Amino acid sequence: MENDEKKGMPIGVFDSGIGGMTVVREIMRQLPHERIIYFGDTARVPYGSKSRETVTRYSRQIVRFLQTMCVKAIVVACNTASAYALDELEGEIDLPVIGVVKPGAKVAAQVTQNGRIGVIGTQATVGSGIYTTYIQKINPRAKVIGKACPLFVPLVEEGLWQDPVTDEIAMRYLGGLIDSEIDTLILGCTHYPLIRSTVGKVMGEHVTLVNPAYETARELKELLHKHGLSSDRQPQLGTNWHQFFVSDGAEQFIHFANSIIKYGVLSAKVIPIEDY
Ligand code: DGL
Repeated sequence: MENDEKKGMPIGVFDSGIGGMTVVREIMRQLPHERIIYFGDTARVPYGSKSRETVTRYSRQIVRFLQTMCVKAIVVACNTASAYALDELEGEIDLPVIGVVKPGAKVAAQVTQNGRIGVIGTQATVGSGIYTTYIQKINPRAKVIGKACPLFVPLVEEGLWQDPVTDEIAMRYLGGLIDSEIDTLILGCTHYPLIRSTVGKVMGEHVTLVNPAYETARELKELLHKHGLSSDRQPQLGTNWHQFFVSDGAEQFIHFANSIIKYGVLSAKVIPIEDY
């Protein structure tokens, strides 16, 4: 297929569920000419408490599904899947693939002044040490302090984005990071940008918050450009320009997704992902 034809093809984006919509939001903002095929694994979320083998198997199935939709590139819009499965996926498919961890790590390594960086995420992401590995490749002297914050995901999904309960949990989770004198904190889970203001309030103004979703969209733009795959089509919003798929609970997904992005998720289709 000629590159000109490929340029008009969509980008496949996936997450364990709804959280990857924070990455979709950034892609829509920064790459408005691109069409997105999103898959949220709402039947099997959370990934953050599952094993590497399971998350890798799930990710492979989703990639196979996205390939049936003729995507030109894949964004692993989930920190846990990026931590556990990205390397394997990169070796297995013949498409540009990008995860959220490397872009977030790169920016954190660049912006820190005192070399002390915090990472918050799921048990899996923090336990994998993946952010530390990438950060120290760029800045070997950096000290990376991880903290798993598992309750943040259900709090976000309950809509408690600005709530005293979330403030209280944030103070408990983040106290140790404040004592560690970090000057940079990576929001290493797709849900966390939605409680950015709470995290920012607890950490204080002197701590720079890094949103990997934003950095990933920026790197995706460069990646598409490098491969000659950037779309120049005019967006046709209000149509099926973007398409959304889930493994369960389409109505709930549509409701939540519309609270994250303003463009409006018109519909979502349930896919039997175990068949892929
Ligand atoms: N999307 C996941 C991540 O970014 C959070 C939710 C989950 O545990 O599946 O790590």
